[in-house]
Amino acid sequence: MTDPRPGQRLLGKVALVTGAGAGIGQGCALLFAEQGATVVGCDIDTDAAARTRELAAERGTKVEVMAPLDMTVPADAQRYADSVFERYGRIDVLVTAGAIAPHMASAAEMDFDEQWTPTLRGEVDVVFLPVRAAWPHLAASGGGSIVNFASVNAFRGSGTFGMVAHCAGKSAVLGLTRQLAVEGGPSGIRANTISPGMVRTPATESAGAHEGAARAALLARIPLGRVGTPEDIAWCAVYLASDESAWVTGGNFPVDGGVLAK
Ligand SMILES: NC(=O)c1ccc[n+]([C@@H]2O[C@H](COP(=O)([O-])OP(=O)(O)OC[C@H]3O[C@@H](n4cnc5c(N)ncnc54)[C@H](O)[C@@H]3O)[C@@H](O)[C@H]2O)c1
Repeated sequence: MTDPRPGQRLLGKVALVTGAGAGIGQGCALLFAEQGATVVGCDIDTDAAARTRELAAERGTKVEVMAPLDMTVPADAQRYADSVFERYGRIDVLVTAGAIAPHMASAAEMDFDEQWTPTLRGEVDVVFLPVRAAWPHLAASGGGSIVNFASVNAFRGSGTFGMVAHCAGKSAVLGLTRQLAVEGGPSGIRANTISPGMVRTPATESAGAHEGAARAALLARIPLGRVGTPEDIAWCAVYLASDESAWVTGGNFPVDGGVLAK
C-alpha cells in the first residue's frame, strides 16, 4: 500500500482512461494526474484529445491522450493497452469513460440498425474491449482497479427521454462489472461501477438535457438541486483507483446528487 501525501492519492499508479477527450473521462484524467498518477488516456476524437492535453498543461500536469483510437474496435483497444504496458511496464488502473451519446427513442420507435445496435456497441463493447485488452497487464502488475460507468438509468427509466437502449446498455455494464469482480479477485483485479446522475458534459448538452422543460424536470428530481460536474464523478473514481479502496470490488457507487434516494 502506498502512503500518499495529501493531493497524491494515486502516486506511482499508471492509469488508462478511455474517452479522456471530454466530459467525465476528461475530468478523471485531469484529476488523476493532479493526484500523482501517470495518465495515458485515449479518445476517438483527435481534437478532443488535444484539448485535454492542453488543459492538463495549463494546470501544470501532464496527460497523454492517444488518438484516434476507437474502443469498439478490438485492434485499437489492444494497441492502446499493449503500448502503455510496453512503455511503462505496468498498468494499475483502467477507467472506461469512453462511450457514445446514446440514441434516444421509445421502444416502439427505436430503429434496430441505426439506433439500438450502435448504442449497445457504443456503451457495452466500448467497455468490454479495453477491459479484455488491459486484463493480462493488470494481472501482470499484481492486480489493479477497473472503473466502469453505469448510470442511474441502470436502475430506473426516464419519463423525459426514450432510453430503452441506454437502460439496457447501462444494466449490461453493471452485470459485466460484477462478473469482472468475481473473475478478477484471485489476481487482485478489482472492478466497480460508478453510476452518475445527470452530469453536464458534451453528451448531455447535445441531448438537450440542460434546456427548457427537460432541465426543469431533471432539476426537480435532484435532492441536491444541481446537475453534476465531471469532477464530482472523478473524486469517486480517485477513491476507487486508489489503494484506499483495496477491499472494494463488485460494488456500484451512485454519484447523483441523491436522485436514486428519491
Ligand atoms: N454525463 C452524464 O450525465 C452521465 C450520466 C450517467 C452515465 N454517464 C456515463 O459516463 C460515461 C462518460 O459520459 P460523458 O457524458 O462524459 O460522455 P461525453 O460524450 O461527454 O464524452 C465521451 C468521450 O468518449 C469519447 N468516445 C466516444 N466513443 C468512443 C470510442 N468508441 N472510443 C474512444 N473514445 C470514444 C468521445 O469522443 C468523448 O470524448 C459514459 O459511459 C456515460 O454513459 C454519463
